[in-house]
Amino acid sequence: MAQLFKFDFSKNTSSAKKEVPDKKSVGTTRPTMSATSSLPKRPTVAPTRASGSVDKIEMSNELFNEYRQYIYKSCGIYFTDAKKYLLEGRIARRLAIDKIRTFEEYLRFLQSPSGRSRMNSLFEAITINETYFFRANQQFEALENIIIPETISLKSNSFSPVYKIWVAASSTGEEAYTIAIIILERLKNRYPKVQFQILASDINNAVLEQAKKGIYKEYAIRNVPPPILKKYFRFDGANYHLVEEVKKMVKFTNINLYDSQQVRAVKGIDVIFCCNVLIYFDTASKQQVVSHLYDSLNKNGYLFIGYSESLHGISKAFHLVHLPKAMAYKKL
Ligand SMILES: C[S@@+](CC[C@H](N)C(=O)[O-])C[C@H]1O[C@@H](n2cnc3c(N)ncnc32)[C@H](O)[C@@H]1O
Repeated sequence: MAQLFKFDFSKNTSSAKKEVPDKKSVGTTRPTMSATSSLPKRPTVAPTRASGSVDKIEMSNELFNEYRQYIYKSCGIYFTDAKKYLLEGRIARRLAIDKIRTFEEYLRFLQSPSGRSRMNSLFEAITINETYFFRANQQFEALENIIIPETISLKSNSFSPVYKIWVAASSTGEEAYTIAIIILERLKNRYPKVQFQILASDINNAVLEQAKKGIYKEYAIRNVPPPILKKYFRFDGANYHLVEEVKKMVKFTNINLYDSQQVRAVKGIDVIFCCNVLIYFDTASKQQVVSHLYDSLNKNGYLFIGYSESLHGISKAFHLVHLPKAMAYKKL
């Protein structure tokens, strides 16, 4: 248990951004370390900051290639050539916030010994954090009706079992809190002796800080059934505040899924939700992440990934289980 919660919560944060993910923005091909051969050549324009506009900043193809390799090595996210503009825009906003003059200056800073401690500012700039409550309803139904009953019945210590769920790319917490609500509503009474523990992690400290606050806008709660909304949220006229009873069920921490050491420290998990993050990785980084997630799971444990994601060509270790309206990967 100690391994699960030994991470450092004291990192700096800033405000998080939300954006609807564009599936085409993410790499499915393996990145090469070569120069940007397929990118159109265009001259580097020196950034003009006098107007305060980020539109005038343009990243050279060479620098774009350096950035994407740096990002890939740091967190497994791969930006294809077609998404150069996206990276450019995201980093330009970061420069404006930090009052840094050029793309090159920011990259060199990140690469310097003092810059490494500010890596999170880069992750905050480039990650896509779209999520909402009850997003993957069919998966949650399968969790409640099939997965949890089955895995609890197979637990060796059936007297007072600990049941561990890990939401491995939690963003602002909606997925993890949805699971907590389902446990409170439907499973706690059914399994009074089971201690349910939910670990939620992300690479982006800003979203983790928001998650810990448990305060949400209309967008996040739009799928919440009205009786659940009434019971577990307090509306202050503008925002929805999650009640303490739900908040205290989830432990948030920073884990970079591409950092083998960090992922290996999480052990003894019964169910992992790693949804809508693998799409941002290329094949090699998906393989690495999924193989570590496999190691984190208990025997008979399950992995859920996003509806649009698949482990085809990524891992043969899992057994694919077809559930009513959902699929899950089982560790036999
Ligand atoms: C689109 S959100 C998915 C949120 C939630 N799982 C869902 O399905 O609603 C993807 C999240 O993955 C996180 N992420 C991206 N790369 C990561 C990495 N290497 N390690 C951990 N989290 C990462 C991002 O910060 C972002 O919050």
